[in-house]
Amino acid sequence: MTDLQNTIFDPPGVSDETATALPARRPGIAALPRPLVIAATASIVVLIGYLNSNAPTDLTFTFYYLAPVLFVTWFLGRWEGYFIAVFSIGTFLVAELHGAASYNHPSMAYWNAGSRLSFFLLSVALLSSFRNLSTRLGAMVDERTKALQRLAAQLSEAEDSERRRLAYDIHDGFGQILSILKLNLAAALPEAPEGTETRLRINAAIAMVNDLIDRTRTLTFDLHPAMLDHLGLVPTLRRHAEQFAKQTGVEVTVSEDGAPPKLATTTANYLFRSIKELLNNAVKHGQAKQIVAAVHWTPAYVRIVIDDDGAGFDSAAAFTPGHNKGIGLAGIRERLLSLGGSIRLESSAGSGTRVVLELPLTNRETSA
Ligand SMILES: Nc1ncnc2c1ncn2[C@@H]1O[C@H](COP(=O)(O)OP(=O)(O)OP(=O)(O)O)[C@@H](O)[C@H]1O
Ligand SMILES: [Mg+2]
Repeated sequence: MTDLQNTIFDPPGVSDETATALPARRPGIAALPRPLVIAATASIVVLIGYLNSNAPTDLTFTFYYLAPVLFVTWFLGRWEGYFIAVFSIGTFLVAELHGAASYNHPSMAYWNAGSRLSFFLLSVALLSSFRNLSTRLGAMVDERTKALQRLAAQLSEAEDSERRRLAYDIHDGFGQILSILKLNLAAALPEAPEGTETRLRINAAIAMVNDLIDRTRTLTFDLHPAMLDHLGLVPTLRRHAEQFAKQTGVEVTVSEDGAPPKLATTTANYLFRSIKELLNNAVKHGQAKQIVAAVHWTPAYVRIVIDDDGAGFDSAAAFTPGHNKGIGLAGIRERLLSLGGSIRLESSAGSGTRVVLELPLTNRETSA
């Protein structure tokens, strides 16, 4: 087993934990109980007030009071922000009146507090409007992204079913006629005496028909491998790997572990086409000499790792809009995301490429 194969069968950094944690989202401060966040912030305000009352008079604490107000507005909302603003100014006023500050007239302290309160309330109003706007924009972007993903999935399904239909049409139309033609030519062969022009022509015709049969098989396999429906993903992949090796001279090793479920036709098609694209990329862009495809089944998900020993590339920029004009990787990613899966690229110039596809296997993906 080569070095490349060794790393594939035990891919570093690709653990069961990473694969099962696909849709996990980290809860933010907004997920904490509101009273707790407000109480914690109010305590900080009291602390600031304490420091304020003991600090030299010419030290301004305005921005220290403002920070908790902005914090609460951003994470909890407008009314919580107003509440902390009023509480902050109240604390400020107490600190000023009972602290080291000295005013010519006590009303000055109220005046200062009033103008600060107006500034704080205005800040809360502006920040919460901005936050609402950005939340609405985020929701719109999410909605559009989901719509695009649905569209990508529908297009890909429509393409699959059209390819399938074409493959069966070609098989049933051309394939059967060619087989009958070959039988007829083979039957006519003994009637032409050895060494005659007619026999040579029949032999040449048989060779041509054989070639056409081969080409038709390759074409139907490329359009839609029927064995994908009957035998499943990995046997079809092995067959493709053989053909691919013949066409390109690149060694492709396919390995499988775990028990393969019966995949839905569209899912099997989709995974097969994605792997074909990754093999093509490895040869077309990386000039790889060796590729290893490892398929790992669990009841919850399938993970496919494709490694090549090619030139590698800057994978961090692969999905940057406008960075590359190709749609191969982007198409794989869109469809995977629409199904709740993920794609991970690990590559850098000169170090080969690893692509990890992960797809959760729900009833939708495994029902035939
Ligand atoms: N295995 C790989 N080795 C080296 N470079 C790669 C590999 N896979 C992808 N790339 C780089 O990533 C780019 C994007 O690949 P992608 O499949 O999205 O587009 P493409 O192959 O250029 O075009 P298309 O797939 O649409 O025909 C490629 O142009 C290439 O530079
Ligand atoms: Mg490509």
